[in-house]
Amino acid sequence: MKKIVLGIETSCDETAVCIAQSDKNGFKILSNIVSSQIKVHAPFGGVVPSLAKREHQKNLIPVLKLALKEAGLLKTQNSKTEITKKNKNSKIETLNEILEREDVLKKNTINFLTKYSKPKIDSIAVTYGPGLAPALWPGINLARALSFYWDTPLIPINHLEAHILANWITDEKHAKKLFPAICAVISGGHTLIVLMKKIGQYKIIGETRDDAAGECFDKSARLLGLGYPGGPAISQFASTFNPLHSIFKLPRPMINTKDFDFSFSGLKTAVLYLVQDLKKQGKNIKELTPALCYEIQEAINETLVKKTISAAKKYKARSIILGGGVVTNQALKDKFIQIIKKENIKINFMAPERKLTTDNAAMIAIVAHLNKKIIHPRRTRLGREKINWENLQADANLKF
Ligand code: KG4
Ligand code: ZN
Repeated sequence: MKKIVLGIETSCDETAVCIAQSDKNGFKILSNIVSSQIKVHAPFGGVVPSLAKREHQKNLIPVLKLALKEAGLLKTQNSKTEITKKNKNSKIETLNEILEREDVLKKNTINFLTKYSKPKIDSIAVTYGPGLAPALWPGINLARALSFYWDTPLIPINHLEAHILANWITDEKHAKKLFPAICAVISGGHTLIVLMKKIGQYKIIGETRDDAAGECFDKSARLLGLGYPGGPAISQFASTFNPLHSIFKLPRPMINTKDFDFSFSGLKTAVLYLVQDLKKQGKNIKELTPALCYEIQEAINETLVKKTISAAKKYKARSIILGGGVVTNQALKDKFIQIIKKENIKINFMAPERKLTTDNAAMIAIVAHLNKKIIHPRRTRLGREKINWENLQADANLKF
């Protein structure tokens, strides 16, 4: 049967809403809106949690309206068919409770719900974590409010699983033998290697002991005065550099250890010392930026590729599946393909479509569509079975 899923994502600095259609033949995006806060955070060189919360509160309802409109589901209420005044007042009282800590969002949500009709939506999927707590709450609380007011099931989604399953959005891969798979989730907040036995069954076999790979891109870019986010800026400069003229050599921390863990904070410090040294020598950092960016990107990518491929060999994986914002980096994908070819490894290699790689809500909706284990036990309605959101968030990594 055809089902419509509403996806909501606010774990970091993107306010995202998606409407998707899910049935036995597959998954189809009806609308997928992402409102980026990059301009708000850029002057601070990184995401400021309190500003992210403020922006999500302001943007969630406009983004939701746009997503519903594009999906053809935004309809103004017809007063004759809508709920009685008494019923409405008691529902608004509960909305006030659910959204008590979200003042701007509360006002916008009540206006929205009392102006527009209940859309034909069968479930609401929302990121519960991991992520920045102040950023997650507006998304979670909006989802709870909609779930209550429309009496629609609510499905908590793990952000990391969503980055992996983003690979299924445009191609469901029914026919392929994919498992066991080794997944690398590489984002601004995480660097994980995950053994995936099937959809819904994951085991973390390695992770960063300090900074995430995306964080290393961002912090190194900051040292070079390239602004936020650093990944796109570093890859842009690196692409203008001829590798034959490479002059710098940065460390590849933990590249040869037998485990699948990472450490990127030492690399960031090495970039700091190198830049300080070059400045002392009176070198022009601007002129050297493409060479520095190339070497930073190489050091991060080489480590990621080497460890992921070693894990794939050890676990006799049939696929390597990438996910997370850093996977936008074309040089990283090229390096994977190059090594797989060079070593003649028989393996499926998967990375999501570019616009589905960084944070979005289509990846949240696809988890609800694919991971039946998540849908059924946790399917809930506010008031009937309460979800302990604080515990869910605290356990976000462990539950994965
Ligand atoms: O997955 P994502 O959108 O958000 C998190 O869940 O963290 O990832 C954002 C990260 C940032 O650190 C950003 O610098 C990095 O992805 N990133 C890139 C590129 N585009 C985004 N890193 C390297 N190369 C890129 N082209
Ligand atoms: Zn992410």
